[in-house]
Amino acid sequence: MDVRAHVSMVFHLDKCIGCHTCSIACKNIWTDRPGAEYMWWNNVETKPGTGFPTQWEDQETYKGGWKIKGDRQLALRSQSKAGGLFKLFYNPNQPGLDDYYEPFTYRYGDLFTAPAGEDQPTARPVSLITGEPIDIEAGPNWDDDLSGSPVYAENDPNLDALTPDEKQALFDVEAIAMMYLPRICNHCANPSCVAACPTGAIYKRGEDGIVLINQDGCRGWRACVAACPYKKTYFNWKSGKSEKCILCFPRLETGQPPACFHSCVGRIRYLGVLLYDADRLTELATAPKESLVEAQRALLLDPHDPAVIAGAEANGVTPEMIDSAQRSPVYKWVKEWQLALPLHAEFRTMPMLFYVPPLLPVAGRSGAGVYGHTPDGLFTSIERARMPLSYLASLFSAGNTKVVEEVMKKLLVVRLHNRAKTVGDVSDEALQRAFREAGLTAAEADDIYALTALSSVDERFVLPPLQREEAIEPDHEPELHKGMAGLGVTRRPVRGG
Ligand code: SF4
Ligand code: F3S
Repeated sequence: MDVRAHVSMVFHLDKCIGCHTCSIACKNIWTDRPGAEYMWWNNVETKPGTGFPTQWEDQETYKGGWKIKGDRQLALRSQSKAGGLFKLFYNPNQPGLDDYYEPFTYRYGDLFTAPAGEDQPTARPVSLITGEPIDIEAGPNWDDDLSGSPVYAENDPNLDALTPDEKQALFDVEAIAMMYLPRICNHCANPSCVAACPTGAIYKRGEDGIVLINQDGCRGWRACVAACPYKKTYFNWKSGKSEKCILCFPRLETGQPPACFHSCVGRIRYLGVLLYDADRLTELATAPKESLVEAQRALLLDPHDPAVIAGAEANGVTPEMIDSAQRSPVYKWVKEWQLALPLHAEFRTMPMLFYVPPLLPVAGRSGAGVYGHTPDGLFTSIERARMPLSYLASLFSAGNTKVVEEVMKKLLVVRLHNRAKTVGDVSDEALQRAFREAGLTAAEADDIYALTALSSVDERFVLPPLQREEAIEPDHEPELHKGMAGLGVTRRPVRGG
C-alpha cells in the first residue's frame, strides 16, 4: 500500500443555481490578462448542452484521456510513443479558436465620444486578439439555459445514451429539463495531461495532488491540451505556454479556500483531503467500464484505519494532513454515503472532483403524488425521471444507470424524511420502505441533510495546512503512474510555484 494524500472536491448539483459567480471570481484573479482572455479555468455549463470548448466530451473528435491497451495497460488516446513526436507539430484533434470562441470586448468609448446625431450611439464588438470589429458567433456559455431552445442542446454527446422517447421527454417544450454543471480541472489521480507533456513541465504535487504547469519548463507543445479529456489546460497565445486551474494553491497555503469555492452563492462546493492507494492506480483505472465508479471508490482509503495511518506516516504525510482527511466532507460524500460520483469516469483519469447528481429534475415530474411517495409507487418518479437516468449515468457513472439510481434513492429519502418532519404528509410505512430501498438510516439522512443545507464554511471546507517549505519532497517515484512510465515519462520533482 502506497498511501498518498490528495486535496479533493465535491460539487452538489442540486444546489447549483447557474449564476456563474464562481467563473467570474476565478477570471478576475487568474485569467484577466492578455493571452488568457478566452480561458475559463472555472466555467458553468448548461446540460444538456455542448459545453466549452464545444462538444469537449466527444473523444472521437478530441481523443483525450486514456484507453486500455493489451492486458489492462493504459495508453493515451491522443498520442502513441511514435506518433507523439509528429503530433507535436500537427495535431488534428487539438481544439482551435472556433471550438472555444474569439475573445471580444466592446468599444465602450464610442458611447461617450460619438458626435451628436439622430441615432443612439452603439459600442461595437471588437476582437481582443486583433482589435478589429467582429461579429460575435460564440461565447464561453453560448448555450446557457439552453439559449431558449434545444437547438444547441441536441448536439450534446451524452444524448446518444437516450432512447428516442427519453429524448422527446427531455425536450418536451412544456417541461424542458436542464441542469448546471460547473467545471474546473479535476486534478486527476491519473492525469493524462501530465503523461502527455514531452518536457515534464506539467506535474502533480507530491503533498496534495494539485496539478500545475511549471511556466519555466513549458515549451508550448500543447500535448497537455489534446490529452486532457476535460479540456482544462489552455494555451496562452501571448506567452506561448499553457496554463490551467491551480486550485488557488496560494490561497490554500494561506488557509483560504479557492476563490470559486469561497464565492459560490449556492454553497455547492466542498473541499477536503482524501487518502488513496497509489499502488492500485493502474489496476483500478483499467477496470471494466461499468465498474469504474466502484473502482474509484476502492482507490480511496479509510483515514481512520490504523494500517492506512501507518502507511501515510511512512510516506511522509503529516499528522495534520491525516487529521484533515479524518474530518473530510469529501470522504463522507464519496465513500461513506456514496453520493458523489466522478465526471466521465470512462476517460480513466481518475478525477478527484466528484459530483452529487441533481435530484430535482429527476423528481420534478411525478404521476404518483408529491415526489412519488404513494404507497404503491415510491420510486415511480425516479424510474420515469424527467432527467433520464441514462443521461445522468452517461455523465457520472460511465453509463451504469444502477449507480445513479442508488444515488437518487438516497437523495429522495433524505427529502422524504425531512418532508415527513416539516410537512407531515408522508406515511410512516412509505418512509420506512424508502429507507430500506435506499439502504440508509434516519441518522444518516439527518447527517446528509445537515452537510447539504446547514453546514458552515468550516464544515464545507476542511482545509489542510499546506506549507510549501515543509512539503514532502519525494526522492523516488515508485509506482504512482505506471501508465506514464510506460510512455517513458517521469514526473518532475515537486517544485514551488
Ligand atoms: Fe489534467 Fe486537469 Fe485535465 Fe485531469 S482535468 S487531465 S488533471 S488538466
Ligand atoms: Fe507540456 Fe503542455 Fe507546455 S505539453 S510543454 S505543459 S504546453
